[in-house]
Amino acid sequence: MTADSDFSIKNPSKLPNSDREKRMWEKIRAGQAIEAPDEMSDDYFDNLANLMLQQADSELAGAFGYVPWIMRAPSTEEKLAVANIVKDEVRHARAMYRLLEELGIDSDSHVAKHDYNFRVDLRGDDLKNKRAADDRRVNIFYYPIDTWADFVMFQFCMDRGAGHQLEDVRKSSYGPWKREIERIFKEEMMHVNHGDYWVKKMALDRSTKEEAQTALNKWYPRTMNIFGRPKTRKNQVYKGYGLKQRDNEEVRASFRDEVRLKCSEWGLRLPDWKPEWEKIEEDGVISG
Ligand SMILES: [Fe+2]
Ligand SMILES: [Fe+2]
Repeated sequence: MTADSDFSIKNPSKLPNSDREKRMWEKIRAGQAIEAPDEMSDDYFDNLANLMLQQADSELAGAFGYVPWIMRAPSTEEKLAVANIVKDEVRHARAMYRLLEELGIDSDSHVAKHDYNFRVDLRGDDLKNKRAADDRRVNIFYYPIDTWADFVMFQFCMDRGAGHQLEDVRKSSYGPWKREIERIFKEEMMHVNHGDYWVKKMALDRSTKEEAQTALNKWYPRTMNIFGRPKTRKNQVYKGYGLKQRDNEEVRASFRDEVRLKCSEWGLRLPDWKPEWEKIEEDGVISG
């Protein structure tokens, strides 16, 4: 993997790459799941590890960003709801790091090298598509969550966006990830529902509608940026390996259409979003 210089990993299998590659394509063409490093080419291994590490780092950084909201949530019922969401996210992170360990990756030494509590101090500029540190989290997880409206809008937007990305993982060619994602997916949908409950409540109340719109204006464009640019070479590689099923643009469109519908139901305005393709990263990422 090249993107993370402190994290050199390679397929631990003792079999020659050509043997593994042959076996891999046989299984992919037969619609069978890849189950172990012995069945992966070096390139498949690198791409798989890259995607799973992005998800793992995003889950952990996401959990830490939520922690203060256990204390700051508006009621004891909501403090418990936030604590449960934090627990879910740490569990998702642990599940993903365990999958990486099964590939021979020392995830604890990777985690020890990064500050997952780090957030950007924004004065004016948005990150757009830039990264802010050398962990592998999706860049939306570098932004601070400053208000309760931010917290619930993050779930409305980002958990929903992640859910659309995870739809592809549910059909992944890598069996262990595909099986693990089912429970994660169900929990992410509960987070989306929590966000929907609050965004609807705020949007339909005249005293909080503006606050909801302001939070949407902040988090919707940031979420639209997570999907990556259309028709990238990398996306083609992921699709060829069965690690993704759709083009980045299709996933983004399915997210946008769902948000547009909710906005029209609840009287919110869908914010403008313009892609900045010259700056965007190629990977197109997965997180929750
Ligand atoms: Fe989540
Ligand atoms: Fe998650």
